[in-house]
Order: sequence, then structure tokens, then C-alpha cells
Amino acid sequence: MKRSKKSLTVLLVLILIICMLSACGQTPASSAGGGYTIDNIRDQVVGLDEKMELENGKKIAVTNFDNAATTPALQPVVDEIDEQLKKYGSIGRGFSPKSDYSTDLYNNTRDKVLEFVGADPEKYTVFYINNTTDGLNKLASALIEKKSDLVLTTRIEHHSNDLPWRENGTVIYAEVDDQGRVMYDEIENQLKNNKVKYVSVTAASNVTGYVTDVHRVAKLAHKYGAKIIVDGAQIVAHRKFSMMGESEDENIDFFVFSAHKMYSPFGGGAVVGLTDELMSHMPKFYGGGTIHIVGDDWVEYAEAPKSYEAGSPNYPGVVGLGKAIDILEEIGFDNIEAHEKALNQKLVDGLLKIDNSIVYGDTEDLSDRVGVITFNFSDINSQLVAEELSHTYGIATRRGAFCANPYVWRLYGLPDEAVRNFAECSDMNTPGMIRVSFGIYNTEEEVDYLLEVLPKAIEQAKKTNEENFGLAEPLY
Ligand code: ALA
Repeated sequence: MKRSKKSLTVLLVLILIICMLSACGQTPASSAGGGYTIDNIRDQVVGLDEKMELENGKKIAVTNFDNAATTPALQPVVDEIDEQLKKYGSIGRGFSPKSDYSTDLYNNTRDKVLEFVGADPEKYTVFYINNTTDGLNKLASALIEKKSDLVLTTRIEHHSNDLPWRENGTVIYAEVDDQGRVMYDEIENQLKNNKVKYVSVTAASNVTGYVTDVHRVAKLAHKYGAKIIVDGAQIVAHRKFSMMGESEDENIDFFVFSAHKMYSPFGGGAVVGLTDELMSHMPKFYGGGTIHIVGDDWVEYAEAPKSYEAGSPNYPGVVGLGKAIDILEEIGFDNIEAHEKALNQKLVDGLLKIDNSIVYGDTEDLSDRVGVITFNFSDINSQLVAEELSHTYGIATRRGAFCANPYVWRLYGLPDEAVRNFAECSDMNTPGMIRVSFGIYNTEEEVDYLLEVLPKAIEQAKKTNEENFGLAEPLY
């Protein structure tokens, strides 16, 4: 009796302390605190109910399956940006309480990013970017010292993890296998036979959703004296990602990702890189913010991260990024992964039942794929189908080669020489696929809707083809 009275008192005191802390606004800064789950997050997505006019004049809310391109914003992220804009002042330059406040928030978000990707603050530095393409270009312009510097990447990459390396250095590639997966043996062979300075790989494909074992690649890169850069554009909103491997040689040296693919508007994103490496290089972007002092014909540049952030920064983008991290972590990446897997399975099962369907990548084992499914129909042009889905049914997909041309041609089985024939062609006459990419808020009902209307869209596309284009065969 005595014991339970004591426990009750302790409990009451604890509750009182928690209430007082909440009232003072001292809940942990890293918590989103909104009770967000995979089941209720849909209510927080901006614009899902917004009615858009279709070609037939009907107004309906869009079913959005184009999340690999960009994600809609979350309302709490927008609210946080609105709130913080009230206290906005120039970052790192002004002398005012607002300037001090926003500079602190801007810099403290770097710590949140480091924690998000499991990077040691003693060894890694964060600099902000506009998006992954911007980050990879900045890194390439900084790290590559001469055209002969060798970069190894793979044939699964999107253009942003290929062209910046091509333009600054010399690139060699590791091939993909018949199913479109990265070939780790090829990576090792290339490393063995060439003096590679950097290996740059994607953590997840924007075409097939395959997840790369980047820590395995890191181990290989380090074994042969190279550093590793990971393109995180398609992983950050889908899987828990840590830059740390099981041993030090598995650690990632540089990680790049976008905030606009993780439910934060206004662009933004970050590069997390080894501080020593960032300090000993500098990107070819100059101007205000990057310097320590400038004379008539001499310049002392600042250290990283300042040296990587020329010009006034994108403060709303950084605030949004911080809040988006909180919300994704609150929902939990295990829950996000399980949700995406269920959607992937339902879609693939349904697609395979439709006549003449082709689903790219491994359809038997979907376990190493984030929520990205790409498909075609062997008897109709994919652009006509995607247009029909959009114009008649309000379904957003992406159609084409997804800024990952060499990978898409491989999935098609089109040799490079054959692709050249399409150089002068219109988009519709260039081979393409249809891509569905899922976000945390998509539902099984939406997948059912797509599967229900797809046969009708295909029939209508065939009619359009007959009436307007007269194509006897599909064009890919
Ligand atoms: N890489 C982005 C996409 O896959 C743009 O759509």
C-alpha cells in the first residue's frame, strides 16, 4: 500500500514535469510531434483534393503517381516555413535579432541533417544545395582537378550522376545485369584495372527502384584507394539511410539529396561530405558568402561549408528540409518501406494480368525496390497511354526515359547505335516507358483505380493512334 502510494506520487510529479516542459515549448526540437503515421499522413498532404480540369472539361482531384520526380508538400512543413518566415533575417550577414535567430536555425539544421544520415559531426560537414543535380555538379566541379581524373559510375544512373562527371573528368562505367541491377563484380573489375579516383553511385534507381548496396560499393572503392559519392535523391524519403557501414571502410564519403523529393517545397537539399575533403577543394561557384577577405587582385576564401554556399541561401528550403526530416522519422522508415512494398506488389500483380504488358526489372523479387514501377504495353505507344491516363482519368505518371537514357535503353535492349536514330525524333516517336512512383500517402485504392482504368486507357489510346497517327506498330 505504502509502495503504490509512493509510485503514484512519482508518476504525478513526472506528469507535472512533462506538462510544464510542454507548456514552456521545451519538447525536443527534433520531434515533429504531430502524431503522424503512415495511416494519417494523407490528411497532411497539400493539394490532394484540389480539383483540376481534364481535357473533357470534368474537374477531378489528381491521383499522383509521380513522386520520384517531386513530392507534394506536407502542410506541417508549409506551416513551419510560414512560422519561421516571421523571424527571417539575412543569414550570416546581418546584425539583428532576426538575423541571429535565422542564422542559428539555418546552421542548427546542419546538425539535424548529420544525424538523419548517421554522419559523425567530427568528420563530416553539411552544405546546402538547390537539388541533387546542383549538389553533384558542385561536387564534381570541386573534387575533379583535371580532365584525366577517373570517375567510375554505373549504367543505372540518372543523367545528374553521369554528366557532371563526364564534363569535369573522365568516366568509366560498370554495367547492369539482365534484370537491370548494378553488377558489383563489374565495379570491382573496373577498380582493379583502372586508377579510379571517385566512385559515384545511386542509392536507388529512379527507373526500377532498385536499391544499391552502397556500403558494399564503398568497401570496394576504399580497397582500391578511391572515394565514394552516393546520389541519395531516390532513397531519402523511402528507406532509412546511414552513411556509416558496419566497418569504417564501408562508410560513405559524400552523400547528396534533394528536399523537394521528401515533401518540402521551395527546393533545397544537402551534401554531406568528409570535412577534410571539402576543405581541401572548392566548387567553381564564386561570390558573396564564400570569402573571408578580398583585395584588389587577391582573395582569401572561407572554409567549408561557406565556400560551397555562394550567394544568399534558400532559407525556406532549409527550414522545410528540417521539418520534413522530423516528420519522416516520426512516421518511421520501417512503416514507409512496408507500405511501399504492398503498393509495389499490388501494382505489379495487376499489371502482369493486363494483355501485352511488360514490367521492367525483377517482378518476382521486389524486395530490393523502392516504390518505383516502370512498364509498357507491346501493342501501343506509351506516350498515348500516359496522355490518356492524365487527360481522361486525372492520373499523373511520368513517361519517357526519365533522365536516365542509357539505363532505359539497356532495359529495352536497344544498342547505342539504334538509339542514335531517334536523335531527331519527337518525344512520342522516341522510345519511352510509363513510370508509377509512390509516395507515403498513396493508397491501395489508388492502385486499384489505375488498374481498373488502364485497359480503357489502352483501348482509347489505340483509337487515337488509328485516327490521328495511323501507326501500324508500337514505336519503341
Ligand atoms: N530524376 C527525376 C525523375 O526521376 C527528375 O523524375
